[in-house]
Amino acid sequence: MTFDRKIKIAPSILSADFANFGAECEAIEAQGADWVHVDVMDGHFVPNITFGPATCAAIRPHIKGVMDVHLMIAPVDPYIEAFAKAGADVITAHVEAGPHVHRTLQAIRAAGAKAGIALNPGTPASAIEPLLDMIDLVCVMTVNPGFGGQKFIHSQIEKVEQLRALIGERPIHIEIDGGVDPTTAPLVAKAGADVLVAGSAVFKGGSVTNPNVYGDNIKAIRAAAQGVWA
Ligand code: DX5
Ligand code: ZN
Repeated sequence: MTFDRKIKIAPSILSADFANFGAECEAIEAQGADWVHVDVMDGHFVPNITFGPATCAAIRPHIKGVMDVHLMIAPVDPYIEAFAKAGADVITAHVEAGPHVHRTLQAIRAAGAKAGIALNPGTPASAIEPLLDMIDLVCVMTVNPGFGGQKFIHSQIEKVEQLRALIGERPIHIEIDGGVDPTTAPLVAKAGADVLVAGSAVFKGGSVTNPNVYGDNIKAIRAAAQGVWA
């Protein structure tokens, strides 16, 4: 993985056909996705359950680019090795998932993955200050994690601006997760985000047999986000 601050669209397969993950990943990449975002939920840290490392390993051969694994689980540490072995390029854990986030980040890098830290909407930007030299990505949750299709929480835009200032020249991605669509993408891009996760806004109206819709949806989000630089 190389670092840049260009806008990257990361469709979340939480909104894909769960019976068809391999073909869905291939379809979104063929339609212009930059990263593939994989949401792991445990029914404990968040009120929903998705899947674990075995599913990630099964998906991996169907992704050419970056597999971005977002762990909404607690505890995290016992499972890091398994997600790294499954082929995750980025492993993101929540700062709220336990008392030893520093150790968690050490373990992610030791396992050979890029380390991400996610912040729930109620967690301030300052939570990552002591961790800046340990992370490759900060994920700003713009919904409360657990479900796709929720409404974007506008108060998080200020947090993105604060994080952008804290990060300075460090090679740390700012990722936005939740409620990203062509209306909200320009707001977060302007505030300093470079990775835009989008579930419902990418998959709506399309399917593996009608994948051009995914392409149109990805283009619309990218164009809206990049418009701020024009
Ligand atoms: C929420 C997940 C998100 C979610 C985004 O807990 O982490 O990745 O799938 O979905 P949309 O884009 O539909 O808000
Ligand atoms: Zn996510």
